[in-house]
Amino acid sequence: MDRVKLHVGGGQVISAPRGRILRDALLDAGVSPHNGAKALSCRGLGTCGTCAVELVGEVSPPTRLEEARLRFPPHTGGPGRLRLACQVQALGDLQISKREGFWGQGEGRVWGPEEGDSGGS
Ligand code: FES
Repeated sequence: MDRVKLHVGGGQVISAPRGRILRDALLDAGVSPHNGAKALSCRGLGTCGTCAVELVGEVSPPTRLEEARLRFPPHTGGPGRLRLACQVQALGDLQISKREGFWGQGEGRVWGPEEGDSGGS
């Protein structure tokens, strides 16, 4: 099966099947896209917005649900810098960062690759 590499920083690179939902791939590898308790999330329904991550790389286009949720506070402006990990399919190798804040809406980075970090690939 065709696979992609998910770079999450700290030298960690997650291998996942191309097309896998990003939240599932991260959780399978023990990397949470949630800053708070996972139990407080909608668990992938696309409604809570707490799985927002910053992405560089090829992913599926935003769903209507994702578009709507990322226009609702504390997110603003719709999909752009942030995407909902539970709605995104990983279609290519990705650089993934989690920002501060319960919804991942902050500026500081909680985890993610440093600039130029290839994750050891
Ligand atoms: S887990 Fe709730 S929006 Fe993704």
